[in-house]
Amino acid sequence: MTGSIAAFIDALPKAELHVHLEGTLEASLKMDLARRNDHPLKESSEEAIRAGYIYHDLLSFLSLYYEGVELLLTENDFYDLCYQYLRKSASQNVLYTEMFFDPQLHTRRGIPFATVITGITRAREAAERDFGIRSQLIMCFVREMSAESADETFTQALPYLDDIVGVGLDSYETGNPPAKFAQVFARARAAGLHLTMHCDLDQENTHEHIRQALDDLASERIDHGLNVLDRPELIARARERDIVFTICPSPNDVIRPGCGRRDLRGMLDAGLRITINSDDPGYMNSAYMTECLRSAQETADLTRAELLAISRNAFASAWISDAERSHYLEALDRFAALQAEEA
Ligand code: HPA
Ligand code: ZN
Repeated sequence: MTGSIAAFIDALPKAELHVHLEGTLEASLKMDLARRNDHPLKESSEEAIRAGYIYHDLLSFLSLYYEGVELLLTENDFYDLCYQYLRKSASQNVLYTEMFFDPQLHTRRGIPFATVITGITRAREAAERDFGIRSQLIMCFVREMSAESADETFTQALPYLDDIVGVGLDSYETGNPPAKFAQVFARARAAGLHLTMHCDLDQENTHEHIRQALDDLASERIDHGLNVLDRPELIARARERDIVFTICPSPNDVIRPGCGRRDLRGMLDAGLRITINSDDPGYMNSAYMTECLRSAQETADLTRAELLAISRNAFASAWISDAERSHYLEALDRFAALQAEEA
């Protein structure tokens, strides 16, 4: 990467639309939490923790992710998790972020919903005050858990709906299609929330999952969703619905090593709208937005115009007011104009 494109990516005004808060848990915070909560850890150093991050597919990734989640116990733990992610993101010129969280992974361990969301909400407020970064929350349903559990979780969230902008669907996809959650998604939509869902790379029945997300559940976005490229009819449908795909280069590199170039170019050439995101940076070599954009740029030879368009897609499809959107898009336009002058 030439120095100047790296500097361009550093300074680019960014928005992130696909990051799991629990996946931002860094080894350093794991050590702090284990000490603080008197929780035994197998590993005795950050290096040893990171050395254990070996996975080759969604299932082996999720087992690491679920193990890490066990360290989060108190409101302050959730506060620290979220505050550290927002501080890091603000340092990378991320102006706005929509963060997933998985309340069921905590409530099933006996941690009250209120503990989780109160800690996160306090951190969002503090980070906006301290670093100017704006954020919103997307509540994910854990798809290998039952539809009834998702529904109960939505009921628990009712007193906090002002702090939640949308609902999503994550975790183990095999045998757990979007249709399993049709009722709770309908309930969320009726309550005024936005909808998105994961269709992870190369999962069983992925094309049917993408079709359900697009047609049956009328999802507003698809998280990952690269397999859309296998089916012209799905491409056509996604274009018709102007769907944004939130692409995460880090896990894709693990599941389909070396295919980044073909995948990213494929999405752009098919006329699909994509954003680039970090997913689970704590478990993926601490690759936050800047690192992810740099790696996408290198792999797919993205031009400045393409990087600007990707950032524009993120602000354009963020779940924010028109006034806020104009504010961010103007910041992006000013940045583009300044870069053009310097070129
Ligand atoms: N896919 C599914 N579940 C997840 C992910 C993901 O990318 N990250 C955390 N939980
Ligand atoms: Zn994800």
